[in-house]
Amino acid sequence: MSEKIAKLEINGEKYEFPVIEGTENEIAIDIKNLRGSTNGVITIDPGYKNTGSCESAITFLDGEKGILRYRGYAIEDLAEKADFLEVAYLLIFGELPTSKQLAKFHKDIKAQSIVDDDIKKIIDAFPKTAHPMGVLASLTSALTAFNPSSVNVDSEEEMYNAIVKILGKFPVLVAWAMRKKQGLPLDYGNSSLGYVENILQMMFKKPHEEYKLNPIVVNALDKLLILHADHEQNCSTSTVRMVGSSHAGLFASLAAGISALWGPLHGGANQAVLEMLEGIREDGGDTKKYMAKAKDKSDSFRLMGFGHRVYKNFDPRATIIKKAADEVLADLGVEDPILDIAKGLEKEALEDSYFVDRKLYPNVDFYSGIIYRGMGIPTEMFTVMFALGRLPGWIAQWREMRLRKEPIGRPRQVYIGENHREFSKISDR
Ligand code: SDX
Repeated sequence: MSEKIAKLEINGEKYEFPVIEGTENEIAIDIKNLRGSTNGVITIDPGYKNTGSCESAITFLDGEKGILRYRGYAIEDLAEKADFLEVAYLLIFGELPTSKQLAKFHKDIKAQSIVDDDIKKIIDAFPKTAHPMGVLASLTSALTAFNPSSVNVDSEEEMYNAIVKILGKFPVLVAWAMRKKQGLPLDYGNSSLGYVENILQMMFKKPHEEYKLNPIVVNALDKLLILHADHEQNCSTSTVRMVGSSHAGLFASLAAGISALWGPLHGGANQAVLEMLEGIREDGGDTKKYMAKAKDKSDSFRLMGFGHRVYKNFDPRATIIKKAADEVLADLGVEDPILDIAKGLEKEALEDSYFVDRKLYPNVDFYSGIIYRGMGIPTEMFTVMFALGRLPGWIAQWREMRLRKEPIGRPRQVYIGENHREFSKISDR
């Protein structure tokens, strides 16, 4: 089959560039040699809306069809039939584990789930008002201080040990970030429990009583973590890959990803959605007023939890989470008027030409916070839960980038500043 090429003409000069094709028939113009062969011409694409940063075998999205697959498996199947640790193994190592592999993976993770007690001194230094995402990013970075050896990615054993280490310690940091704000003693839970069960135990166990696990809550959290586990080259994952491309360590790269996820346009949206819905409820539930604000260009208000860079159809995760929200709240006997406001807003938006024309649908963040709240998780912890779910995806993407020996990320620019000018003495200015 003849090689596909793209032809470009600049200032009368003609150039040809190879076109690459992925396993899902996506095609891309390979411009690796553009600058060199055109005497300095580059492309520019703010927000990288049309630019691929890498070839990856981890996650496939089709934004037009609302398809999401991890290593070829449909998100609907994984959310329904797998558990979070199984999906973490799949994303990182590329195959679903056998029961023996999964048992060893969990055993090795549990063996690494203690953090150095000096971490508590760092946590104690934070004011209770500190946002848990800032605490989590700091503590993740601090792990580097307690685990200084950088990972030799060419050693499978060293890579594996770093992976089980962070999968063991991260949930402790998540639980402690929450308990710190609540003034509760820091707890390690119970290592005889499952991975997600123990996360709940660490988060919610009160010092003076047994913590009773509710299977509805366990299943709901397991499903939410699966749905957040990876999403190809989103802002925070691209950040993890970018930082890792300088050969900074895995924990340092993850800390950078946590900070990127914190933004309200990205993972911080789940907290922003709940605050928005609360605001609408306190304002008498007038969704039409907020719809008008979202469409008013002079108003910075956006309908948080709506729209997506890739999905120009329903976000398949939102569909699953919306259904789960109904089931979990009903099973827990939670009557949350916020859910009705969310559904009303969604219905209005899906009938409004502003949103329909711009293909703005509910995304993963629109309903997730409603479930987290129903489970008793504080609003400020919602994005931390997103990070907990995204951790295996970040690890998988960092590992792929390093194993493929990708070059350091260093974009170019088009300079639009002053041309050369002579320095003037301060007395002459
Ligand atoms: C996540 O990338 C990923 O994969 C992310 C994620 C993951 O799993 O990692 O899926 C997780 O981050 C989901 C998105 C969470 N963010 C929000 O819910 C915040 C609200 N949504 C937006 O700000 C926005 O939709 C983005 C940031 C999600 C996407 O922005 P784009 O692709 O840069 O689109 P844009 O800002 O250029 O908007 C296109 C048009 C604009 O109007 P026009 O200039 O064409 O007239 O749509 C409008 C925007 O004003 N628009 C919205 C809107 N989102 C876009 N208008 C009102 N409310 C909104 N939410």
